[in-house]
Amino acid sequence: DTPVYILSIESSCDDTAAAVLQNAKVLSNVVARQEVHEQYGGVVPELASRAHQQNIVPVVDVALAKAGITRNQLGAIAFTQGPGLMGSLLVGSSFAKSLALALDIPLVAVNHMQAHILAHFIDEEGFDKPQFPFLALTISGGHTQIVKVSSFFDMEVIGETTDDAVGEAYDKSAKILGLPYPGGPLVDKYAQLGNPKAYPFTKPKVPGLDFSFSGLKTQILYFVQKNVALNPNFVQENMNDICASIQYTIINILMDKLKLAVAETGIKKVAIGGGVSANSGIRGTLKEAEKKYGWKTFIPKFEYTTDNAAMIGIVGYHKYLEHTFSDASVTSKARIQL
Ligand code: KG4
Ligand code: ZN
Repeated sequence: DTPVYILSIESSCDDTAAAVLQNAKVLSNVVARQEVHEQYGGVVPELASRAHQQNIVPVVDVALAKAGITRNQLGAIAFTQGPGLMGSLLVGSSFAKSLALALDIPLVAVNHMQAHILAHFIDEEGFDKPQFPFLALTISGGHTQIVKVSSFFDMEVIGETTDDAVGEAYDKSAKILGLPYPGGPLVDKYAQLGNPKAYPFTKPKVPGLDFSFSGLKTQILYFVQKNVALNPNFVQENMNDICASIQYTIINILMDKLKLAVAETGIKKVAIGGGVSANSGIRGTLKEAEKKYGWKTFIPKFEYTTDNAAMIGIVGYHKYLEHTFSDASVTSKARIQL
């Protein structure tokens, strides 16, 4: 069989990304991060769209060049249809449509959240692909879900956050501690140097498989305010222990629900996806769960955890195999279900 080359575009939030896949293998995976948002402490949608528009053509050119592929060799174009910021999504979809029309090749619309899960099906040496059915924990700046994945396109959300996403919990905690946006990776960095039991934060009581993180954020805010009133340097002096305690609490919340999901479904295969799965504590705890609970866990390669286009490409490839194509009237969607 002759291989198919798929160009994929991801522009749902603040990263402009393009990748080229040869079937399930990634030939190139390029991301242009937008630093403009740092000074605002969060993503500014209007600035994100503008930066996508500046970045998209160069990012695609670099992805093609790195893959050693010309536009004329492409067999399909995949792009993120949603969920995400509308203005950001529109840049990627308009670009993908124009190029697919110009090259007269199929266009494939991809759900960003499916892509975070199906990133596990990229061919990558040293990484096993999960077998169906498995449970996926998707943890990002916008989502926190436990998904029962029965086949490539048969997914059921069995638990989700009722307020903030895990990534938001990380980023908002980091902001309270005076760390720059996005603070998740920094909290993780300091957490590795601190005592996780230094400051016991309480876990929220949420029924079933759902999550809540807004209470934790408030708890951390009051905790910091109270201590800073007594010692203005409290945060600087105890950064490692505070971060370790926050991380410990968040991981416990996630693990409690995962254990419940495994018990309820009888499925012991657990895959993680989304930006927060880059977290060292979560990765370590899941690895331990293999021995401790007899689970099989799947942790994606680092570059496929935060937003990237390779994950859009792998979904594109599987839709291509099924001939699930879109025509040029396909529209971006800020919200879509799995
Ligand atoms: O999937 P992603 O790149 O974008 C969204 O779709 O939201 O996730 C970004 C989120 C941010 O909240 C960021 O702080 C968080 O992932 N994140 C981390 C780590 N790396 C990224 N949170 C905790 N620990 C990390 N190592
Ligand atoms: Zn994402």
